[in-house]
Amino acid sequence: MTKKIQCLISAGPTREWIDPVRFISNPSSGKMGYALAEEAVARGFEVDLVSGPVSLTPPPGVRLHRVVTADEMEKTMKELLDRAHLVIMTAAVCDHRPKKQWSEKLSKEDFPKNLEWVKNNDIVRGLSAARKNGQKIIGFAAETTDAMAHAAEKLATKGLDWIALNDVSQKGIGFASDFNDVTLLSSAGETIALGRETKKKTAQKILDRVWP
Ligand code: CTP
Repeated sequence: MTKKIQCLISAGPTREWIDPVRFISNPSSGKMGYALAEEAVARGFEVDLVSGPVSLTPPPGVRLHRVVTADEMEKTMKELLDRAHLVIMTAAVCDHRPKKQWSEKLSKEDFPKNLEWVKNNDIVRGLSAARKNGQKIIGFAAETTDAMAHAAEKLATKGLDWIALNDVSQKGIGFASDFNDVTLLSSAGETIALGRETKKKTAQKILDRVWP
């Protein structure tokens, strides 16, 4: 019996707490990551889906790992990296967390006028530094300006095999939308425009390229 392809996918936003009732986050819906997970299952892959807080139903057949903060996402992704053949990092990870997290709810009078921030680790960069031979790692980049140049730089500095760029300055695609318009860039120098598609179709086209 041939061994199943193991696919590790992250999706959705992370939340970084200020106090027990307040956090910073971003508008990621998780739709792109969930569409990839569904498509990977349809192709017979075994899928670990590491998901930040989203309101989507997990696709049947995935192993779902719920996380909230970037730290939790990093820990879970690292634990699951070893068995993965293919890693796809669609999550919109918060780059920063408040330096101080209050354990009790702040009243509006006590709420600080300024917050200090510390940087979260770059999760996908850590995964690519720790990877073994043959593991493929795909990142995403949502850009508003100089999209191609920024995505190419992230592909290189994060040590990725592919990066899926979406230009979120275009109306009607990206965050929370059912549509996307992705350009794939590879470490081998390919540039492949997938065109404006549903996220389901985009997921199919991405997997066709990254795991033919
Ligand atoms: N990413 C990550 N860990 C982070 C930030 C981002 O793993 N702390 C991953 C994302 O999941 C994505 C890729 O890195 O696959 C690019 O994310 P993006 O937010 O575009 O890049 P940043 O490195 O955060 O750069 P910047 O926000 O400065 O554009």
